[in-house]
Amino acid sequence: MAYSVPKLTDYSAAELEKASAELLAALEMESSAVDGEAAWKLFRDRWMARKNGILTQIRESWLKTAPAESKRQTGMVVNDINWAVEEAVKEAKNRYEDLAILGYTGADKDEAPRRRVSAERLDITLPGIRRPLGAEHPIVKTMNEIVSVFRNLGYSVEEGPEIETDYYNFEALNFPPNHPARDTQDTLFIAGQESKPLRERLLLRTHTSPVQIRSMEKMKPPLRVVCPGKVHRNDAPDATHSPIFHQIEGLAVDTNITFCDLKGTLDHAMKALFGSSVKTRFYPSFFPFTEPSADVQISCIFCGGKGYRDGGRCPNCKGGGWIELLGCGMVDPNVYGFVDYDPTKVSGFAFGMGVERIAILKYGVDDIQLFFQGDVRFLEQFG
Ligand code: PHE
Repeated sequence: MAYSVPKLTDYSAAELEKASAELLAALEMESSAVDGEAAWKLFRDRWMARKNGILTQIRESWLKTAPAESKRQTGMVVNDINWAVEEAVKEAKNRYEDLAILGYTGADKDEAPRRRVSAERLDITLPGIRRPLGAEHPIVKTMNEIVSVFRNLGYSVEEGPEIETDYYNFEALNFPPNHPARDTQDTLFIAGQESKPLRERLLLRTHTSPVQIRSMEKMKPPLRVVCPGKVHRNDAPDATHSPIFHQIEGLAVDTNITFCDLKGTLDHAMKALFGSSVKTRFYPSFFPFTEPSADVQISCIFCGGKGYRDGGRCPNCKGGGWIELLGCGMVDPNVYGFVDYDPTKVSGFAFGMGVERIAILKYGVDDIQLFFQGDVRFLEQFG
């Protein structure tokens, strides 16, 4: 008959002793019958299950009901039993595992402990398991590098939201409603906002320039900030386009800032990023929020600006010797009107550069999609 926990008739030492001995005898018998994993689990649960296991039962029916004067004695007996059950469960596991080793190796019973030791041997001379450290993503790395060039020039870092209003992304940057310059930005609008006034409608920012406005609203001149961040355009992905990419915006406003300051600053930054032999040139361009505006080109870093290499036309600059890298200009006085700066007192410049474009040039990457695919074989090369 399987053992079941009896009710105690009294809590005398003799009665406790007798009940405990019966229980331990049953424990030993059941333990010695364990011959495999399934049997061991049943055994373990029968004795140790939190709900209705034999240990739980004796705690409930022996210990809790013990009269005050017997509590201490009963508690000690129950503790001993607890310990014995835990040991028996551990031993039973060792025993059936030994049996399995013996069955597997065909050794005899006396060899079991030795077999067990050799089966479980830990070779401490093996190299440990390394947990590889992550590496900075090449875009983050490039972004940090560009930011640090400007921090060294005394710029501080500002950030703005990726979901912007039409007002910050366009209107305050002097893009009038329906102006054709908006079309060049391939904007992703958030749906269902027709009932709102245009300037409050939400979109995914198409550039980091709205952070210029947010920074000028927050701070009085003089001001020097860079604003790194993610931007979105409705462009189909291919080797040179991605609907998500990154920009770093720059803005400096003070008294007497001139185009020469802009040229000197960007020439310095390009040399810091691409090497001191790189040349820059400023090419007329248009942005609604800068006047005059320019595109900055650097001498081709692949052919040294010659336009040819390896006996043919340089494929990187397509023979032109120059690579277009960023947009810039003097802040249009109309913009100061939106942020309460006095255009008769201050002047400034702004620039915006694409981080992927710079990373592609610096690291010789031939497909922008590689930055977004998360392939570790690509990414670990930047570790
Ligand atoms: N925001 C512009 C773009 O994304 C770049 C730019 C920034 C131009 C600042 C001039 C000044 O194309």
